[in-house]
Amino acid sequence: MCTEQKSPYECLVLVCTNDRQRSRKSCADGGSPALREALKDAVAKRGWKSRVRVSQSGCLGLCEHGPNVLLQPENVWFSGVSSESLSQILNRIEKSLMESETGPLP
Ligand code: FES
Repeated sequence: MCTEQKSPYECLVLVCTNDRQRSRKSCADGGSPALREALKDAVAKRGWKSRVRVSQSGCLGLCEHGPNVLLQPENVWFSGVSSESLSQILNRIEKSLMESETGPLP
């Protein structure tokens, strides 16, 4: 029997860092490990560390569209992520955090 409990995080950000060493397309081809680090740093700088967890994940299944980032529990998927699109992801995380405080925003 395992323990079931509410997540300690309001937002889980899964960054696929799967690396197939170019034998087949994978998210690491697009620099996803560095994107994960940049997201982690940005989350820490914003003071969200206790509310947002940025974790690496294995293959999320849409390899051709990577790098892929999945935001939970919002179930929002970002594909083709680059350093230029991190602000878009951070804005979405911020919106989610605001909604968890106030309810859905328009
Ligand atoms: S390698 Fe990232 S989704 Fe498959």
